[in-house]
Amino acid sequence: MRPEQMTVVLTGACGGIGQVLARQLAASGANLYLCGTNAAALAGLQQELRAQVGADQFIEAQAVDLTDDQEVDRWLQSFDQARRPVNVLVNNAGICKFEMFENLSDRDIELMMNLNSVVPMKLTRKLLPGLKQQPEARVVNIASTFGAIGFPGYAVYSASKYAIRGFSQALRRELSDTGIRVGCILPRATRTAINTDRVVEMNRKLKVAMDPPEKVAAAVVRFVASSRGELALGWPEKLLVRLNSVFPALVGNAISKKLPVIKQYAA
Ligand SMILES: NC(=O)c1ccc[n+]([C@@H]2O[C@H](COP(=O)([O-])OP(=O)(O)OC[C@H]3O[C@@H](n4cnc5c(N)ncnc54)[C@H](OP(=O)(O)O)[C@@H]3O)[C@@H](O)[C@H]2O)c1
Repeated sequence: MRPEQMTVVLTGACGGIGQVLARQLAASGANLYLCGTNAAALAGLQQELRAQVGADQFIEAQAVDLTDDQEVDRWLQSFDQARRPVNVLVNNAGICKFEMFENLSDRDIELMMNLNSVVPMKLTRKLLPGLKQQPEARVVNIASTFGAIGFPGYAVYSASKYAIRGFSQALRRELSDTGIRVGCILPRATRTAINTDRVVEMNRKLKVAMDPPEKVAAAVVRFVASSRGELALGWPEKLLVRLNSVFPALVGNAISKKLPVIKQYAA
């Protein structure tokens, strides 16, 4: 689907990847329903994008706490007034807490699993009847390399991203006889606020490359426009994702050697 044919629901629109993604989608002609939790930042982004796009393109933005079902329902109902049928959903909002597992609270576990896995599933289900009415539609879930490689300090984040990746694969197969193409993209570490200074420092020490959000957003735009099922970003992460599915012990041994450094930064 070409971007100018898209009416996209994008969550996490004011985040590091989300705001660049919103700018790139708007610049390529897509109509946008944006959400985040920061009302002021969203209003600023909406104003900026509206000033750049043509008169026939629309940019709507709404502050929504995606963990609040009623807020989400009110937001989705507001789409009816705009009379622009949604044909693309990009589940981008997410949270991550880098910490050894035993130091996470029950609340941390619930929040990560909810926002990263349950919320995108609920949003997809709510939009599905409308998406089915479109000749072509696309659902893209933003997972992570850690949705294919379990990594110390990210046990729950990895679990949440494995969940959304498994969901994406099953739903892609379930909807393969419809016009909806479900995809899951796995960015590697990216320079955004989701990564604390500790994480950035650890990545430097472990020689883990971090992509600029512009590069990741551009890959997401191409992925959304395609009908691909899954894509891991970055080298050697692309290879490691494959290797981990075939020879997990090999990848596990290599990661275990990094454990003392990981523990040092998680402490
Ligand atoms: N950065 C990385 O290293 C990396 C790597 C792989 C995958 N990813 C994934 O990429 C996606 C975007 O991450 P990012 O790096 O751009 O992180 P980010 O800068 O922290 O942005 C996260 C976004 O999620 C939104 N959000 C958080 N809680 C929310 C809630 N309860 N309701 C609605 N929105 C909520 C935030 O909205 P507000 O700011 O308005 O609160 C923010 O826009 C995430 O799914 C992340 O897991 C990131």
